[in-house]
Amino acid sequence: MPMLEVKDLRVVYQNGNEALKSISLSAEKGEIVAIIGRSGAGKSTLLRCINGLQRAAAGQIVLDGEVITQMSEAQLRKARRQIGFVWQEYNLIDRLPAMTNVLTGRLGYNSGIGSLVGYFNREHREIALRNLERVGLLHRANFRADRLSGGEKQRVAIARAISQQPKIILADEPVASLDPELSVQVLADLARIARELGVLTFINLHQIELAKSFCDRLIGIAQGRVVFDGAPDQLSEAMIDMIYRFDKPVVMPQHVDVPAAASILGAGV
Ligand SMILES: Nc1ncnc2c1ncn2[C@@H]1O[C@H](COP(=O)(O)OP(=O)(O)OP(=O)(O)O)[C@@H](O)[C@H]1O
Ligand SMILES: [Mg+2]
Repeated sequence: MPMLEVKDLRVVYQNGNEALKSISLSAEKGEIVAIIGRSGAGKSTLLRCINGLQRAAAGQIVLDGEVITQMSEAQLRKARRQIGFVWQEYNLIDRLPAMTNVLTGRLGYNSGIGSLVGYFNREHREIALRNLERVGLLHRANFRADRLSGGEKQRVAIARAISQQPKIILADEPVASLDPELSVQVLADLARIARELGVLTFINLHQIELAKSFCDRLIGIAQGRVVFDGAPDQLSEAMIDMIYRFDKPVVMPQHVDVPAAASILGAGV
């Protein structure tokens, strides 16, 4: 059984906007997957569905045997303990130290009074410290989050996500707020750590070159459907054109939604 299975996922926003038409994919433990596609393609919507922040109109998402799309809000809150999320804008608590921010990744595992008063036992602290070390920021443990640089903030966010000991990490444009050099470093860190830990990771990325360098697999989304799913070396220039501009007929790989891609292209593929 794959770690994640998405089947015929359809999402319609309240204003009637059909953001995802029919998305199907599956992914195994330990895979590092880049989701690519032009603005508005539905990348963020897909990640938000996987962690249950956005409800599906149809279709199914199964994470490690649990059907996300059928869960109540209470069940979703519980499931989210094991879904790490990394946002473009970090989402740290500014006035708290880096260490405490990382410890919030342990909140889902804290029980009873500890969760109410924010007391974290030794085990939680050791996990948080180990993960700060993994991202090279042990020396910043006591720095307030708002005094950290952008790259440091995102590394703290990565340490927080892995402290959840997640089944999947979802990263939505994690390096879009960083300069090009830092983008490479932070993405390299994220991919290295996810590989070391064997955690399935989905990364929404605008930069194709980064996606090709750090991810095992690329999934191209256009107009709410999967139009490419393959290894970095299968992503030809023609394919990139199709994903971003859909103005050229190309030969499709077998495992993508050929009728969808053909209708997007307006070509009789
Ligand atoms: N809350 C919302 N209500 C209505 N429509 C929305 C909402 N959020 C997103 N959309 C629309 O759904 C489609 C997919 O949006 P989504 O944010 O998933 O795209 P994206 O691929 O992440 O784009 P970007 O690269 O710009 O982040 C777009 O047409 C967008 O305008
Ligand atoms: Mg987005």
